[in-house]
Amino acid sequence: MDPEPPARTPALGVPATRREGLLKVTGTARYAAEHALPDRAYAWPVPATVARGQVTAVDTAAALALPGVLAVLTPYDAPRLGPADDPNLRVLQDLAVPHRGWYVALAVAESTEAARAAAAAVRVTYDTDPHDTGLRTDHPDLYTPEIVNGGYPAHRERGDAVAAFAAAEVQVDCAYTVPPLHNHPMEPHAATALWEAGEAGETGDAGDAGAAALTVYDSSQGTGLVRQALAALFRLPEDRVTVVSEHVGGAFGCKGTPRPHVVLAAMAARYTGRPVTLALPRRHLPAVVGHRPPTLHRVRLGARTDGTLTALAHEVTTHTSRIREFVEQAAVPARVMYAAPALLTTHRVVALDVPTPSWMRAPGECPGMYALESAVDELADALGTDPVELRIRNEPDAEPDSGRPFSSRHLVACLREGAALFDWAAHRTPRRDGPLLIGTGVASSTYPVYVAPASARVHARPDGTYLVQTNATDLGTGARTVLGQIAADTLRVPPDRVTVEIGHSALPPGPVAGGSAGTASWGWAVHDACADLVALLERHPRPLPEPGLSVSADTTASAKQRSPYARHAFGAQFAEVQVDTVTGEVRVRRLLGVFAAGRILNPLTARSQFVGGMVMGLGMALTEHSGVDPAFGDFTESDLASYHVPVHADVPDIEVHWLDEHDKHLNPVGGKGIGEIGIVGTAAAIGNAFHHATGRRIRELPLTPDRVL
Ligand code: MOS
Repeated sequence: MDPEPPARTPALGVPATRREGLLKVTGTARYAAEHALPDRAYAWPVPATVARGQVTAVDTAAALALPGVLAVLTPYDAPRLGPADDPNLRVLQDLAVPHRGWYVALAVAESTEAARAAAAAVRVTYDTDPHDTGLRTDHPDLYTPEIVNGGYPAHRERGDAVAAFAAAEVQVDCAYTVPPLHNHPMEPHAATALWEAGEAGETGDAGDAGAAALTVYDSSQGTGLVRQALAALFRLPEDRVTVVSEHVGGAFGCKGTPRPHVVLAAMAARYTGRPVTLALPRRHLPAVVGHRPPTLHRVRLGARTDGTLTALAHEVTTHTSRIREFVEQAAVPARVMYAAPALLTTHRVVALDVPTPSWMRAPGECPGMYALESAVDELADALGTDPVELRIRNEPDAEPDSGRPFSSRHLVACLREGAALFDWAAHRTPRRDGPLLIGTGVASSTYPVYVAPASARVHARPDGTYLVQTNATDLGTGARTVLGQIAADTLRVPPDRVTVEIGHSALPPGPVAGGSAGTASWGWAVHDACADLVALLERHPRPLPEPGLSVSADTTASAKQRSPYARHAFGAQFAEVQVDTVTGEVRVRRLLGVFAAGRILNPLTARSQFVGGMVMGLGMALTEHSGVDPAFGDFTESDLASYHVPVHADVPDIEVHWLDEHDKHLNPVGGKGIGEIGIVGTAAAIGNAFHHATGRRIRELPLTPDRVL
């Protein structure tokens, strides 16, 4: 007879500390560059020093003469690669230089220091062409693409927003600028690559890899995509490529797709026949791992004098590179937020001689909501209406652009709850304290609910413990921990009876950790596998035979089903800032967010995600900025000495709250995703507070002293 089932221990919705926390704080967790394989060598890439042109010669003699140097690969002699979806991965394959910082050679040596010295000694000559890195709204090469990032249509119109705006009783027509921004995770991109020789020849040609096998430890948000890319580039069957991302020191989108460093590491290892580690110096990141592209916004809001919106037009202008189209979908959130009967949202892009932009935390929503939520504040000002009330007045009963019902939408509740917790009404008079001007601001947050197919396997051992396997990636978010909680909850066992294996391409496939969809996607598969296992165990005699029982699940059919609902998370952010009229320094005194993001599975790690997003939004508002130097064609702020991310002294004790939201139309786990919404709206709340404090509107970020004074 079965023993009494263990008393139900709640595993979900309770704070659980990170499973790998001890490994991390004791330095035991190994990151991609820390796999000290025997006989390993080190690589250091050589970036192009021109913004556009052709390599005409690479002189490697001085580099090769340095002690400890093993090889210098150039576009003339590097192994030939197969195809890649992303042309940025076809490194050292041709002589064209599409932007400054593009890699034109790779030094390999016995130590990082020797490789770095060798890279510095490589002499590259170029034929240069005139370059253009200047984004402007009247650029002659601007065009409207078909789709923008995320697969959304670039252009949407409902009603005649321009005419409705022209006829509106109250009008706001404003331009906002968000500069290029960089992800800059704590751990720069790195990879360690190892080949096991096949029977085929060893000519150094990637196409001759035969039955060879490639293993890479990569700092990546998803080993599946990296494996796919490497298999195509090195012409290997996918099952001959293993990619491991066991621990990742942050990413924020820039490790979401495979990056050139992993290709170069594999190439160098192939060429030298030794394991090779390539750890990118931080200063290389802006040119080779993507960035949030600059966005120029025009927002037009038309309203009646009672505050009811009659027209909303959000037009976005942005850049991409010459080699790949990536269009930041910054007008997309305006399709979701407010009940405007006439709605125009559109994007234009121009291909410039710049690095290819890519995902950075809440691509689209983050810069888009800065502009939209600033404009809503300007409208409140023009109307003399409270900005919280103005937002509530324009609450839609269905998604404005699509007409679809919301699966759940608690923006109004977030605004009301936030206003109460912040004591908003009591802070609506700007104050002066000596040289300081003090004011408050509010903005809404939103982020879509995504989910992707995943698979998982769970194994019950006869001793009553369980092993859960799915190819998830933990970027420091706590993904491993929450998957253990989901499994324990479904299996109805204490979480310490469950071991979780993630971050390895040989595990049951799962999607990239991106789009705030990781937990929902992998968690769904883990839930399904565990639920099936529970059913199986109920019928199975005990004790279980060695080695136990395994069950697999795959959510492809369920996760791909199109929902009839518009599914988004919402939030409201409140800020108090002080502006020093002597120094021009803006400081955030209070920052409070209330979010409605479905079920919160682990309050401890969830809070950290919200706080992290809000800190990043604070940086966007006050300090983070990158310029493109028109003469040299590169980013002027490429390290943390010049690209200022917030430090502890910049950040107040951030207050994070959430509503208990039960949404039946999501997934069995019930979460909406929390990785990105925290950054959405923060910069607008701070900018609106700046305006409240000073009476001045600055429509270009960040709010640095040179702009303030
Ligand atoms: Mo997130 S920018 O989708 O990694």
